[in-house]
Amino acid sequence: MKSECRVTVSESERAFLRSRREALMRSIGNGIAIAVSAKPNSGPAGYRAAFRQDSDFLYLTGCPETDSLAVFIPQHPHHKSVLFLRERDTAGELWNGPMLGLEGAGEQLGFDLVLPLSELDKKIPEWLTFADSIYWDSSPELEFYERLRPILQGSRLRRNGAEILNIRDVIHEQRLFKDELEIGHLQNANDIASRAHELAMRVTRSGLFEYQIQAFLEMSMLANGSTQLGYPSIVASGANACCLHYNRNNCTLGESDLLLIDAGCESGFYTADITRTWPVSGRFSGEQRALYELVLETQQRSIEMIRPGVRLTELNDFAGRNLAEGLIRLGIIKCSLDEVLEKKRHKEFFPHGLGHFLGLDVHDVGRYRIKNVERPLEAGMCLTVEPGLYIQPSFADVDSRWHGIGIRIEDNILVTADGHRNFTSCSKKIDDVESLIGTVRPEELNRFLLP
Ligand code: GLY
Ligand code: MN
Ligand code: MN
Repeated sequence: MKSECRVTVSESERAFLRSRREALMRSIGNGIAIAVSAKPNSGPAGYRAAFRQDSDFLYLTGCPETDSLAVFIPQHPHHKSVLFLRERDTAGELWNGPMLGLEGAGEQLGFDLVLPLSELDKKIPEWLTFADSIYWDSSPELEFYERLRPILQGSRLRRNGAEILNIRDVIHEQRLFKDELEIGHLQNANDIASRAHELAMRVTRSGLFEYQIQAFLEMSMLANGSTQLGYPSIVASGANACCLHYNRNNCTLGESDLLLIDAGCESGFYTADITRTWPVSGRFSGEQRALYELVLETQQRSIEMIRPGVRLTELNDFAGRNLAEGLIRLGIIKCSLDEVLEKKRHKEFFPHGLGHFLGLDVHDVGRYRIKNVERPLEAGMCLTVEPGLYIQPSFADVDSRWHGIGIRIEDNILVTADGHRNFTSCSKKIDDVESLIGTVRPEELNRFLLP
């Protein structure tokens, strides 16, 4: 008999989940906090995507099921963390696979108490007596809104003036600082995605469609144990790379094109977010090489600056200035550095930010500013570093030999106590990249394709 693929959580994972809940409870003091699962996928749209648990709920509970809800009551004498979920049912398991069940959830996820959803309306009013404030996300589109609203809005606590505060603000501050379990997943997601990008380099040859490269890239991600992509893969050849979120992926690769791939997959729901750019022919042209070297140098020097205390604005300013100097040196921008920086002309070529937080979500949560002041980087934060240059074919004042070149190089970086750690191992030096391109022979690839 085949073993059932139920959710299994190790003792050490359970310890991380418990310590996240304890941290939340320290933050809310005498309050009560309620976190809810994502709604089930429904209707025709529901078949288009796999169910993805709400990231905040997942972070605190480890529970992948819809129709579940967690309550945290730090002042309760017996049970401070309670999970409500559906009882196992044969029909549900027939259609959707094994369910945790009340007993399973108790053991696996390490809650003090697990109850069926039918108890919800009775228990919450009871627990409100232990609290002086309510932490909840009261957005009407969320799961359980209609059921919780009358209980919470109408409670004696509320009538006595207790505030409803947004639980997400507390969770997002916690999620900004990655624990060792999260760091392990981010490293694993990066190892898998780095490997997949290198396979994409190996299978690259002119005449293939972008989606064919995408197929080999995503095959490699799944084959190495990733459960889902972090976001739709961008596979952009030639001038398509100048469209920042291109994902039609339906053009053929030209011999003289660059190919830009921005793709990442998940491990334990944490995603990598990696971009590499390489020449379809296996050799960068002079113009491509000059711009690639500029982006790579900017990226490497930006990463070198990362340590606690540095602000993202400093990194962005450095990157912008370095790219601007390079564009002037290459004759692509024809005015002085001061003028470029003052008029922000370089933003035409580098129109996005240098990076963003990364974690359970590709553009992860966490505040960049506190009371309108930018916060410095701190150990435990994870961010991307992704400078790029995009010479749009429409840039009439730039020599046409540069037109249609789009380059981005993106790695994922953990801020550590004494500096940083780069999770991303995928090749990016020119010689290393060139030596990988096209190394899978066409005959080998053709075995997988229709004649
Ligand atoms: N993949 C989206 C980004 O790089 O931010
Ligand atoms: Mn990206
Ligand atoms: Mn990114």
